[in-house]
Amino acid sequence: MKEVHSYWAYLVLVVLIAAVVNALLGLKSKKEFASKDLRLGLFALIFSHIQLLIGLGWYFMSDWYKAMKISGFGAVMKNADSRLILVEHPTVMILGIILITIGWSKHKKQTTAAAKFKTFATFYGLALLLILSRIPWNQWF
Ligand code: HEM
Repeated sequence: MKEVHSYWAYLVLVVLIAAVVNALLGLKSKKEFASKDLRLGLFALIFSHIQLLIGLGWYFMSDWYKAMKISGFGAVMKNADSRLILVEHPTVMILGIILITIGWSKHKKQTTAAAKFKTFATFYGLALLLILSRIPWNQWF
């Protein structure tokens, strides 16, 4: 499950970056909002939700969680590595996925292409920044 979470993260990042870049280009070129644009946003939504489920499942099975049960939450907060994995990473990723979900539902209510692209660029873009800020990079590579 850790491996699945690790590999799925590539998919989430690639599709999310593609959705943000696509929204910015769409906004700049003032083009119509086509089904390709809709699908990119939808894939980013689906892939990130699947990652949320895998992450939640793995969280409670991981050695990190087992160690927290022994050492306690106070000890986790005192150590930068365990704090990142057990507290900051899950919290900030969930916030990012909430932003993606809000962006997806907001874009459906917009009536113009520019408004749809702007909604994706804003909400997915912010989500991307949050997600990038709390990936455990040194342990991933
Ligand atoms: C967009 C959402 C997410 C992305 C892109 C993401 C990405 C990653 C990446 C790249 C790693 C490092 C994997 C490795 O060391 O090979 C990781 C680790 C981890 N993630 Fe996530 N994650 C996300 C959401 C979540 C959520 C919501 C949870 C829990 C509620 C979670 C729990 C964990 C845990 C426990 C680890 C440590 C794995 C270990 O070393 O045992 N992740 N995540």
